[in-house]
This record gives sequence, structure tokens and C-alpha cells, in this order.
Amino acid sequence: MNILLLGSGGREHAFAWKIAQSTLCEKLFIAPGNPGTAACGTNVNIGINDFEAQEKFCLENTISLIVVGPEEPLVNGVYDYFTHKYQDGKISVIGPSKVAAQLEGSKSFAKEFMMRHHIPTAAYREFNASNLEEGIQYLATQQPPIVLKADGLAAGKGVIISQTVEEAQAELRDMIANARFGAASAKVVVEQFLSGIEFSVFVLTDGSNYKILPEAKDYKRIGEGDTGLNTGGMGAVSPVHFVDENLLQKVDKTIIKPTIEGLKTENIVYKGFVYFGLILVNNEPFVIEYNCRMGDPETEVVFPRLKTDLVSLLQAVATNNLHQENIEIDERSAATVIMASGGYPGEYSKGKKIDLPQESSSIIFHAGTKENAQELVTNGGRVLAVTSLGNNLKEAVHTSLSTIQNIKFEGMYHRKDIGWEF
Ligand code: AMP
Ligand code: GLY
Repeated sequence: MNILLLGSGGREHAFAWKIAQSTLCEKLFIAPGNPGTAACGTNVNIGINDFEAQEKFCLENTISLIVVGPEEPLVNGVYDYFTHKYQDGKISVIGPSKVAAQLEGSKSFAKEFMMRHHIPTAAYREFNASNLEEGIQYLATQQPPIVLKADGLAAGKGVIISQTVEEAQAELRDMIANARFGAASAKVVVEQFLSGIEFSVFVLTDGSNYKILPEAKDYKRIGEGDTGLNTGGMGAVSPVHFVDENLLQKVDKTIIKPTIEGLKTENIVYKGFVYFGLILVNNEPFVIEYNCRMGDPETEVVFPRLKTDLVSLLQAVATNNLHQENIEIDERSAATVIMASGGYPGEYSKGKKIDLPQESSSIIFHAGTKENAQELVTNGGRVLAVTSLGNNLKEAVHTSLSTIQNIKFEGMYHRKDIGWEF
């Protein structure tokens, strides 16, 4: 079959790399892709939210499967656009429906869903312009740290953790009254602060059945020892050493199963990847967030450990046959180290020439690169994700760090302590 993949980051390069290994995929197109995905298929200059152009391209190129990397087209309804028009399955989309994507697109929707299905998550209250003053008073009764979350998508920046009541009150006012995150913060979820260790579990579902993929942990802070500003993720590892069979079973029973069954009983169509952002508090898992897609950079460690043919799994999702599939996982450890532009996550410059090694023991996924006059140059904050497999995590990280010694671009920065706590 021919496949169209939407997106242009490191996650999408990992998708393209994995899809290209399948004998079930005849032609792979990536819209818009990056120089890394160009090595796995054909990049096409179509925007991720331009559903009409995607449709025209699919019809012209007999594409029967659309795989969606980022959340934006999902929240905008790419699943519904194609599924309503092509009910015969001529073009299937791997992803949640527009309503289901609200699990990521609206914190309030996600919280209400978890409450209805008794899924463990932090206690919360919700405020908007109509009860802002009540919110200010409510905050005065809370013990810091206080977690404030813009309801809508805010490019990963919508969560604020305040260390004092006064700061939380000022933030709440700024978010609601001054539209700090635009329409996304017209509504704000105020949440109990959970103290624990975070990890992520990924699930692929056809709406009835689901398969659990390897878990991962990402490193969100820019600085070593988990310090400094939040980023999109500076590295990731899989497996996560404290996530044993016992814990995974608990996550499955108390979180994954109730989520998939809850969606089904509410007739919310979900045929794609679910990202469970979890936190372990006194050995009990709680949901910090749902995402309606795979993680970035987690995909760059999850897919290299997945031995099963990804296209076979995706096809099974499209045809509601996921129960017939088996997930095979590589026992080895995977680590990815992000090479970022100097200054990221603040201001940084683009267009710096990148030198890559001819050969390497790592997989070098492109995140923010582009080709300029036949030269590979930087084109984003996160530039490359250098993934390695090893017999243990130390070995995997060491291989990535060695590979990085042979990569050069002006101002490059990476954390040397990915996997440091294991
Ligand atoms: P989110 O965008 O929901 O993933 O939140 C971003 C980050 O904020 C998470 O990865 C956590 O580190 C932190 N966070 C979110 N909610 C909470 C909470 N209730 N308690 C403690 N930390 C939180
Ligand atoms: N690495 C976090 C995310 O993909 O949301």
C-alpha cells in the first residue's frame, strides 16, 4: 500500500524510518517531511493542516493510509475529514477523531473524562472569566506549589507551577483576563501538585483492542541534572528501569483499560496512538496528561525497540483487527540524545551548516534540519535526535555521545546526562 505521513520532526523521521522497513509499504510520502525523511520516502510540499490538498494528493497517488505525527491536524479533525468522505475505507487515517483528540486538546475535557471513569489523576478545579474571582479566593486556600494549566493547546507552554499563592493568583488572572495563551487560557485547570517520578506509556488502539508499546522517559529540562527551562524534550530512554511488570499491570488495570473502555462506551472514536503521561506517587500511577499522538523524542527510542512490522499494526488498526497482532519488543535499551541549537528554548539562529559522519553506530534522526543549496543546515531548536541501542542504558547513551563527537554545527548543545539516574 501507499502511505502518507504528516509531520516534519524527529518523531516523523522515526515513523518514516520504521514504515520504510515494511514490505507492506510500497510508496511512502511525507508531508512536508525533512531531509531525514527524504531518505525513507518522498517529501511532498503539503501543509499538515491542508486536508484538501492531502486528499487530492492521496487520490492522485492511490494512498490508502494516512499516518499523523503531530497533534494539531488531529485536534483540527483530520480523522473526521477523511473518514466521513471515505467510509468504504479507501483512505484510512491513523489517529483519534476530533472529539477524542480533545483528550489532549482540552485539559478540562481530559479531566472530566478521567473523573467519569475513575482514572487516577490529580484533584482539580476549573476557572474562566465568569468565576475568576472565585478562583483567586480558591488559590488562597491552596498549599503551594500550585499547578495551573491552560485548557487548550499552548505549544507545550501552557502549564505553570507557582511556588507562592500570590504568584499563582497573578498567573491565573494573566491567563484568563489577559489571555496569556490566547483562547487556550480562557479556561484554566488548577490542579493538585503531585510529587513523584514521571514516565510515559504508549498504546496503539483500534477502538476496541489495544497493544502496549515500550514505555519511555523523556528529559524535558534544558540543563543537566534536570535544571533550567522546559523544552520539547532533550532526550529519552526506553525501557524505564523502575517500570516493572507489576507496575505495568497496575497501569494497564487502573489507567489504560478504563481509558480505552471509557472511550468505547461513550462512542468516542479513537483509532491511533495514545500517549499516557504518568507520574508515580508512592508507587501508585496517576495520569498527568494524555496526548493523542506519539511523543517526541520518545518515538525515537520506542520505535527502534519495536520489532513488529509497524505497517502491519497500522493496517490492523484501520481494519479493526488489532487483536490478531503480536507486539515483539527488542530487549535491548535505547537512548536518544537531542542536539539543539545554542540558545534553545529561548532565541536561537537557524541556517547553520551541519556536518554528519559518513558512518555511525547510531541512528541520526533529523528534527529541525533543512537542505539549503545542497547543504544540510539547522532549521529549528531541536536539530537532531541521536538514537542508539545497547545491552544496557549506559552503553546506549555512551554510543550516542560518541556519535555526537563526530557531528558538527555552530552553537550546538546537548545534555551529557541523559539516563543519568539509572
Ligand atoms: P503537561 O503539559 O500537562 O504535560 O505538564 C507539563 C509538566 O508539568 C509535566 O510533565 C509535569 O512535569 C508538570 N506537571 C503537570 N501537572 C502536574 C501536577 N499535577 N503535579 C506536578 N507536576 C505536574
Ligand atoms: N516529549 C513530550 C511530548 O511529546 O509531548
